[in-house]
Amino acid sequence: MRIKNICCIGAGFVGGPTMAVIALKCPDLKITVVDINKKKIDLWNGDLDQLPVYEPGLSKIISKVRGVNLFFSTEVDKEIERAEMIFMAVNTPTKKEGEGKGYAADLKFIERCAKQIAEASKSDKIIIEKSTLPVRTAEKIKNILSVNKKKNINFEVLSNPEFLAEGTAINDLFKSDRVLIGGENTTSGLMAIDTLVKIYSTWIPRERIITTNVWSSELTKLVSNAMLAQRISSINSISALCEKTGANIEEVSKATGMDSRIGSSFLKASIGFGGSCFKKDILNLVYISRHYGLNEVANYWESVVNINNYQTERIGELVINALDYQNINKTVTILGWAFKKNTNDSRESASIYLANKLLSNNITIHIYDPMVKESLIREDIINILKENNIENEEIKLRLSRVTVFTNPYDCIKNSSIISLCTEWDEFVEYDWKKIFKIMSDPKYVFDGRNLLDKLYLESLGFRTFFIGKS
Ligand code: NAD
Ligand code: UGA
Repeated sequence: MRIKNICCIGAGFVGGPTMAVIALKCPDLKITVVDINKKKIDLWNGDLDQLPVYEPGLSKIISKVRGVNLFFSTEVDKEIERAEMIFMAVNTPTKKEGEGKGYAADLKFIERCAKQIAEASKSDKIIIEKSTLPVRTAEKIKNILSVNKKKNINFEVLSNPEFLAEGTAINDLFKSDRVLIGGENTTSGLMAIDTLVKIYSTWIPRERIITTNVWSSELTKLVSNAMLAQRISSINSISALCEKTGANIEEVSKATGMDSRIGSSFLKASIGFGGSCFKKDILNLVYISRHYGLNEVANYWESVVNINNYQTERIGELVINALDYQNINKTVTILGWAFKKNTNDSRESASIYLANKLLSNNITIHIYDPMVKESLIREDIINILKENNIENEEIKLRLSRVTVFTNPYDCIKNSSIISLCTEWDEFVEYDWKKIFKIMSDPKYVFDGRNLLDKLYLESLGFRTFFIGKS
């Protein structure tokens, strides 16, 4: 099948950047990213400084391709019908109710997409699972397509999971370690795989494009995230041991990672991993393993999430203990709300869990993040309080103890503790002498990222806590 028009359903953190890069690399393709969220589409079509996704390098690409061969629209049916190839990049959050609640992926958005594709299509299509999905979802999608389609239309379903990380998405898309395409071993399946391979091979070396069966591709995505998260939980578990024994986590991490069999990536101790995917994808893996009766396998992977919760909780406890002085101003500054630097995404950020813990202990919090908007920060706090079944009146009261600042020094002024949660580069550049002067006692810095210079801060008079350094 010759591809001229691509439709991507879902204009989020994956749909927007991936389609922008395909549009840039394949000028002959016309790509339309569609979404049911009109506000988001308006932002994608609006000011380059206000795109809904902040990613270094993204706005430059958008400025080159938008209105040329990349378009953003809410006309989902029309764009489905026009396209020969459709990417599904919708969200797949953890289920909040029903069978598998708290573990399984909620597939309602993907199922709705499949139904809509079937109903709107008047010609053959290649459908691509770009969202992260449980192994064997393609089977479900094919069923929905075949039940709802018009006669004589052929749909080929491929799995093509996305491995980009936020904050480095553009570079990851330009120079992917691998592109994975899973498809059926039938004539039409192999042709569909070949069609997608041709698109990626415009800029990705052919040897980095791997083709597998559909189930291997779907499962590989979950396994890749689980393995990455497992390394972080491993090093975070050891950080607690370092604090007890006098070992230094950065020295342990460096020396361990220098073994080429282990490698140095993803061994940076932190207040806990965040992001929309690690936790949900591991819980999904846990659910699938239990479903097949593999309880030991499920427990093993669940422990990765448990250690992550433990790490965020224990650092929260330490902050609260440090405030247990009499007659001091119980104000804590949370520096950084994004789940990592260089993104405006705060989903599952450790900051949210820390804020919740501090608020439930009657502590006043000041928050500063260079990229995350105040409206999102407040929404995150309201959501976590609601998840914890806090009554509306109490939510209002707790929110009255939250102030979000646009200037870091105003934020820190009169705080007793700074809890640094995101590794934004600018935090290192701050005038820490000035900060010492404007803070209240006990002038404690909790560095949840081991970002700052501990000895320098202590030389200025700060008390400090750095992860895995006693
Ligand atoms: P997102 O929430 O940022 O975007 C998803 C978008 O899909 C939303 O804008 C939503 O309005 C839209 N949508 C939902 N149902 C729709 C429908 N029926 N029609 C049209 N639009 C619809 O999510 P995301 O972060 O881009 O993640 C998407 C998928 O990619 C998830 O499965 C995720 O696990 C996976 N993934 C995410 C990342 C990442 O870095 N965020 C990386 C790799 C894979
Ligand atoms: C992660 C994976 O890295 C991507 O390959 C995957 O495509 C994506 O999830 C997804 O499926 O959504 P992302 O969550 O964007 O990407 O960012 P990461 O760089 O993996 O960081 C995740 C979290 O782990 C962040 O909170 C980060 O600060 C933390 N982290 C990372 C550590 O605490 N220590 C480390 O050594 C590395």
